[in-house]
Amino acid sequence: MKDKVALVTGSSYGIGREIARELAKRGCRVVINARNPQRLKKTADEFRESGFEVHAVAADITKKEDAERLIEESMMRFGRLDILVNNAGTNLFGEFEKTEPEAMRRIVEVNYLGAMYVSKVALPHLKEVQGHLVFISSLAGLHGLPYLSVYSSVKMALTSLAQSLRIETHGTGLHVGIAYIGATKADPEKRVLNEKGELIKRPEGLLKLEPIPDVARRVVRMIERRNFRLVHTPIGKLNDLASRYFPGLVSWALRRNLKKLKREMLGK
Ligand SMILES: NC(=O)c1ccc[n+]([C@@H]2O[C@H](COP(=O)([O-])OP(=O)(O)OC[C@H]3O[C@@H](n4cnc5c(N)ncnc54)[C@H](OP(=O)(O)O)[C@@H]3O)[C@@H](O)[C@H]2O)c1
Repeated sequence: MKDKVALVTGSSYGIGREIARELAKRGCRVVINARNPQRLKKTADEFRESGFEVHAVAADITKKEDAERLIEESMMRFGRLDILVNNAGTNLFGEFEKTEPEAMRRIVEVNYLGAMYVSKVALPHLKEVQGHLVFISSLAGLHGLPYLSVYSSVKMALTSLAQSLRIETHGTGLHVGIAYIGATKADPEKRVLNEKGELIKRPEGLLKLEPIPDVARRVVRMIERRNFRLVHTPIGKLNDLASRYFPGLVSWALRRNLKKLKREMLGK
């Protein structure tokens, strides 16, 4: 990892910041990104104080011009790009039929289109150095989940993108990977969308929450080992096996717990 250049989207706080920190600890020069320049600067200053080499680019990855500028600035600053972690993402809790189309659009844009825009521009640079193209998905991307339908389906779409790109770039030496992360302790700044598209605090208490640094370390280990898939947590691994081989059983278990899920996820 020494002297490699890593870009992590959505890294002013939360999981993205810890992935960037973990990469920096291993000797990477890091590019951090988010929309809010003040929060981003705070993280960049904190990284510099820790002795990390960091460049901060305020950009909204859902805008293709911003995605292009993000890669251009990274290349101008460091001259190469070895690792791209498509981390920026937001969740939506709600009943599908009550969800505003505008809220749906925002989820698709940040989790999916944004990752596509940044990856497309980064790809030639990553291939040149036989680098790493990584997507951050979720356990919600293994099997469709009620009241998370928009988020779940968009994270599932990332699987197909990662699989396609892995085949399309075969023979170039590029590593493509996708990490299915379990419910993680929320950064105090974390917000998710509700059905109306309003930003709210994430409903808690549904699952055991993983500490953010643990999640970040596992993602970085996956990059180091050039693995294609990371499924985080024992419950995630069980869910993965069941979703692949017994999807009917997973649907049955979710149906049985529907009322409880609705209460805990939507407070209804
Ligand atoms: N937290 C969990 O339990 C969990 C579980 C499974 C998977 N994941 C996935 O892990 C990833 C990170 O989750 P998280 O919980 O750490 O998220 P988070 O706490 O909400 O952090 C999101 C980061 O992304 C930035 N961001 C949001 N929209 C952006 C945009 N359009 N362009 C650029 N940056 C943007 C935010 O800063 P600004 O607002 O300033 O832009 C912030 O730095 C996501 O892909 C999420 O789906 C999370």
